[in-house]
Amino acid sequence: MTEALFKKLEGVQACVFDAYGTLFDVASPVMKLSSSIGDKAQDVAKLWRTKQLEYTWVRSLIGVHADFWHVTREALDFTLESFAITEAGLADELMTGMLKLDVYADVATALQALRAKGKRLAILSNGSPSMLDSALRHAGLDKVFEHVLSVEEVGIYKPSRRVYRLAMQKLHIADAPSVCFASANGWDAHAAAQFGFQAVRVMRSAGATERLPGKLAASVTSLGQVAELV
Ligand code: LAC
Repeated sequence: MTEALFKKLEGVQACVFDAYGTLFDVASPVMKLSSSIGDKAQDVAKLWRTKQLEYTWVRSLIGVHADFWHVTREALDFTLESFAITEAGLADELMTGMLKLDVYADVATALQALRAKGKRLAILSNGSPSMLDSALRHAGLDKVFEHVLSVEEVGIYKPSRRVYRLAMQKLHIADAPSVCFASANGWDAHAAAQFGFQAVRVMRSAGATERLPGKLAASVTSLGQVAELV
């Protein structure tokens, strides 16, 4: 089990957040339609997310980029076929759900606290600009971030270093440790740490310690704790 690792971070100017899984609950579209999907709903949500990420990594390695909306739909089609779910219109409904995701309960307060501390706020996500825009507007968070950065600007997915570099360029920050990067995705937090950010893993669910390069600056159980760290 990952131990809580809680120590103050020095010199943070900007807090950059992952979106899916960190701010937004990516399982929420499936869970909302669980009456149509049945008792397999949790497994469906899990496979959809796993495939979504796997496809981003494979596409990045073979150099054939398609945006996150496209990849998410391909991952969904794979998932529904795997579970022999054929209900008409369900796939479209689930994709629409991706634009209106539930936001985790600790997000608004944590962002407010960080702003009160004078920290610059940004999102750095695999999501396409229109997906991020819809989800942020739905959550009432569309005015909160100084930058909402999508991998579409570099045409490759996380954990490519080009993605993390984009955040520094857009924020005009020259030294990576001035960025606190928060992600609930362990691989993303480790990659950001390896890049040079002060990376905080948000343990939204209990899980084993990742065996990956990159030393996390902190590991917390809620986003609110990020504001206490910086
Ligand atoms: C993102 C993925 C990793 O928002 O969830 O970038």
